[in-house]
Amino acid sequence: MSSGSPLRGAGMSSGSPRPHADPGTAPRPERRVGAARLDGLGTTVFTEMTALAVRTGSINLGQGFPDTDGPSSVIEAAVLALRGGENQYAPLPGVPALREAVFEHQRRNYGLEPEDVLVTFGATEAIAAALLALCDPGDEVVVLEPYYDSYPACIAFAGARRRQVTLRPPEFALDADALRAAIGPRARVMLLNTPHNPTGRVLDRAELELIAAACVEHDLVCLSDEVYEHLVYEGEHIPPATLPGMAERTLTISSVGKSFSFTGWKVGWCSGPADLVAATRTVKQYLTFAGGTPLQHAAAAALRLPSTYLEALRGELLGRRDRLCAGLVAAGLRPFVPAGTYFVNADVGTDAAAFCAELPERCGIVAIPTSVFYDDAAAAPTLARFAFCKREEVIDEAANRLAGLPSAQLRQ
Ligand SMILES: Cc1ncc(COP(=O)(O)O)c(C=O)c1O
Repeated sequence: MSSGSPLRGAGMSSGSPRPHADPGTAPRPERRVGAARLDGLGTTVFTEMTALAVRTGSINLGQGFPDTDGPSSVIEAAVLALRGGENQYAPLPGVPALREAVFEHQRRNYGLEPEDVLVTFGATEAIAAALLALCDPGDEVVVLEPYYDSYPACIAFAGARRRQVTLRPPEFALDADALRAAIGPRARVMLLNTPHNPTGRVLDRAELELIAAACVEHDLVCLSDEVYEHLVYEGEHIPPATLPGMAERTLTISSVGKSFSFTGWKVGWCSGPADLVAATRTVKQYLTFAGGTPLQHAAAAALRLPSTYLEALRGELLGRRDRLCAGLVAAGLRPFVPAGTYFVNADVGTDAAAFCAELPERCGIVAIPTSVFYDDAAAAPTLARFAFCKREEVIDEAANRLAGLPSAQLRQ
């Protein structure tokens, strides 16, 4: 008789459980726990790399979170809301002040007049709820790769299939033929991200026109993840919803995390045509209903900050981008200078997965192999992604540590 408690459905052949088996040491019979839709979804690379950074005392340039707080006036707005009795469920669509601020933001920055706005638990929830709302099992979602890691997971949760359009180094440009090839008869959604994580590309007008034409021709809904909308250093951010034929088919998604350095608040929103917002709201209603009421009030204050705040943030991040790129070059790596986001990819001249696995021990830095964001692992095997949303002294220290690596090894 095997030791340990028998598990329902685990195929134990006979006998009753031994009453005093130590649950800490008894081997567990094999059992299937997760549903099939979880296949291939383990711990995210960010969780693993952040744990590695903590364990090795490394500088974490793996996960994209700033190491300073956002504006103190926004923190004060949160404190005021907390002390002012804003501590119960928010209305399902979000607190009116934030919804109004999102309408204004879209109008002021892009001339957009969305029909409706839904506040969500970060952009992440908007993406998940929208995919669950829009896709039937077997539908296809056309998505740029490399992609943010929640995309394939949420597409799988919806029972849909992803069809990738691969952005390849060094330009990471959209290829018209690849786009065309990815759109089949079951295509339902075009899931876009510009400015684009992890490549740092800001899609240009010609590329967006190709996408818009494809969406119109194939009657696709466009989910446009624009969380880096204000972190653009070269070129301009063009929301897909501003292109002809797109406002009526685009759900635009953003959040307070990147633009205002409050990634831990997880306050996001989506805006667009009433029917797309309503469908997303229907799912969101049963996922979390509503959350973070005081932080929603503070997010409204963030969106109403004068434009000088965002100009200053961009200026700071641009300086940090250039500092980190100079450090990477000095260490013998080849950075692809990004036009947007706060990530830079560098060619490390060797297998980046092995390089990133060894980097914490070798020099106390954590970076992410860009290949983890691709289905096509051969598309960028020698690229590593570094985040530059860190204080200047942290970036300088990272550059010093990288400079200590034997350059011959880096260039091999
Ligand atoms: C492209 C992209 N979309 C969405 C998110 C998540 O946004 P939020 O923290 O608002 O859920 C991130 C965070 O890194 C991201 O890079």
